[in-house]
Amino acid sequence: MNETSGTAPGFELLTRAASSIAGRTDALFLTMLAICGTMALALALLIVWFSVRYRDGAHADRSDPPSHANGLEAAWTIAPMLLFIGIFAWAAHDYIDERRVPAEALPVYVVAKQWMWRLQHGNGRQEINELHVPIDRPVVLVLASQDVIHSFFVPAFRLKQDVVPGRYTRLWFTATRLGDFRILCSEYCGTQHSGMLGHVIVMRDADYAQWLASGPAPHGDPTPARLGEAVYRRLACASCHGADSSVHAPPLHGLYGRVVALDGGERVLADDEYLRESIVAPKRRTVAGQPALMPSYRGQVGEEDLQNLIAYLRSIGADKGPP
Ligand code: CUA
Repeated sequence: MNETSGTAPGFELLTRAASSIAGRTDALFLTMLAICGTMALALALLIVWFSVRYRDGAHADRSDPPSHANGLEAAWTIAPMLLFIGIFAWAAHDYIDERRVPAEALPVYVVAKQWMWRLQHGNGRQEINELHVPIDRPVVLVLASQDVIHSFFVPAFRLKQDVVPGRYTRLWFTATRLGDFRILCSEYCGTQHSGMLGHVIVMRDADYAQWLASGPAPHGDPTPARLGEAVYRRLACASCHGADSSVHAPPLHGLYGRVVALDGGERVLADDEYLRESIVAPKRRTVAGQPALMPSYRGQVGEEDLQNLIAYLRSIGADKGPP
């Protein structure tokens, strides 16, 4: 699979594009570079020209200097404004598109920590600092941080996303070239920040399926939902949320993907973000008609366990689709 490998290139001004959005990002970037470069060059030439023409002792005509030029002033205000609004609309269109995750995207759960990337596929297969993905299929990364702010950056995909502790961020892409592409951390996160490196390995569909099935364990790793079920048992969630509990906490079966009514009349979709918050900061948004008894589990469950626990809740939820 390495015949079109993306590694070890010579000097490149722009890493060769390898994702479906990379071409559009490059077009926007190069257009802005051309506009800014043309302006900078024009201004530099004008500075030189004026410096020579109006230097001390030059015989330039200084009689009757214009006090104002309304047409010129309007033109140099309106023209850049229209240009910038146009660039804004173009960029907004592309960025909004990048935020819309296709429903069929393959989910991969990523936890960033000082100083490594830990990735988990839907079937439970785990990787450290490597991400295997199939070519020409959308993949969505659900990113969490165990400690400080990191930033997931794949230059060849033209993708960069901050990974912020306390929340999930999402990033999707479709890889369009086979090969091996660098993952960098692009947010300073401590002494080993520069060593927080990884690789995306883009494979043919069949190779990817074979790779995915061949976990380190004979039958692959347990799925995130299975691991999450163990966390559910370890934390004894059922002692309050179970059907036969005397506490009558909201039942968790069928919760994921449903709309929940909150105190104060707000309604919220029970998704990854809401469930995560309910576990680590349950007092922030409480369910209508329920006493706020749930203790915070901040510090007791790591990001990996949280992701697995939510995968379990998803597996027993109303909406079992990918995030
Ligand atoms: Cu992680 Cu820099």
